[in-house]
Amino acid sequence: MQPDEKMMARLKPGCICKGVKLIRLIEAIENGATCFDEVAQQTGIGDGSCGGKRCGQKVAELLGEETENNAFPA
Ligand code: FES
Repeated sequence: MQPDEKMMARLKPGCICKGVKLIRLIEAIENGATCFDEVAQQTGIGDGSCGGKRCGQKVAELLGEETENNAFPA
């Protein structure tokens, strides 16, 4: 991740429901989190009104997992 991207991640929401910035999710992954539950444990995301639907998507994208939004047909 480029330094500019990290700076922008300080401003972008990671979990809107819990008011956690995107940079916190990135830092959790850099600190060893390998799945949504581990990121949630470190950051407190996932138990907001959407039940982790929105931030779960972001974590999946950060982890390079295939999601409905970034999946390409075979
Ligand atoms: S955006 Fe994280 S719980 Fe809703």
